[in-house]
Amino acid sequence: MASSSPPSTSILFFIYLLLLVSTIKAGDEVETHIQVYFHDIVYGPKYTAVRVASASTTNISPTGFGAVVVIDDPLTESPDVSSKLIGRAQGMYALASEEEYGLLMAMNLAFVDGEFNGSTLAVLGRNAVFSEVREMPIVGGSGRFRLARGYVLAKTNKFDLITGDTIVEWNIHVLHYS
Ligand SMILES: *[C@@H]1O[C@H](CO)[C@@H](O)[C@H](O)[C@H]1NC(C)=O
Repeated sequence: MASSSPPSTSILFFIYLLLLVSTIKAGDEVETHIQVYFHDIVYGPKYTAVRVASASTTNISPTGFGAVVVIDDPLTESPDVSSKLIGRAQGMYALASEEEYGLLMAMNLAFVDGEFNGSTLAVLGRNAVFSEVREMPIVGGSGRFRLARGYVLAKTNKFDLITGDTIVEWNIHVLHYS
């Protein structure tokens, strides 16, 4: 009397079918493009970027090496800071290059408008601010952007030499599930 018999082919097929069904339920991957303007306001009482740390040599470094800045920068629909608010870039950047202005960007984009209101994207990348176009990876997200991946292309729109305030056009390309 054999007590252990191999699982029948029909059981295996049923398990395979279950796996197949749950794969389909994950939804289709779609690509979304969002254009926003990033306002890094370092000057005046309504600043949105604040230096929180630096090295003893940061002030004599030609590239500001060693500074760390925490931001809550508005992301708006047009270069005008008073235009519609789409979200906020919350996090920090560190001046991480001794050779040029090369930033490590580590931040969440928290959307406050439209179909992505309440969802976030996590951006982690290098930003050589004097390059024409900078590419930064999107490494994840939450809400509608759960399991997201993608990239941001950033292009300076306006840099105020006197105040240091900067407006940057961000083209966000993100793959996520529908
Ligand atoms: C975004 O979501 C918040 C929280 O649910 C809500 O209070 C707010 O009105 C929403 N904003 C827009 C523009 O839909």
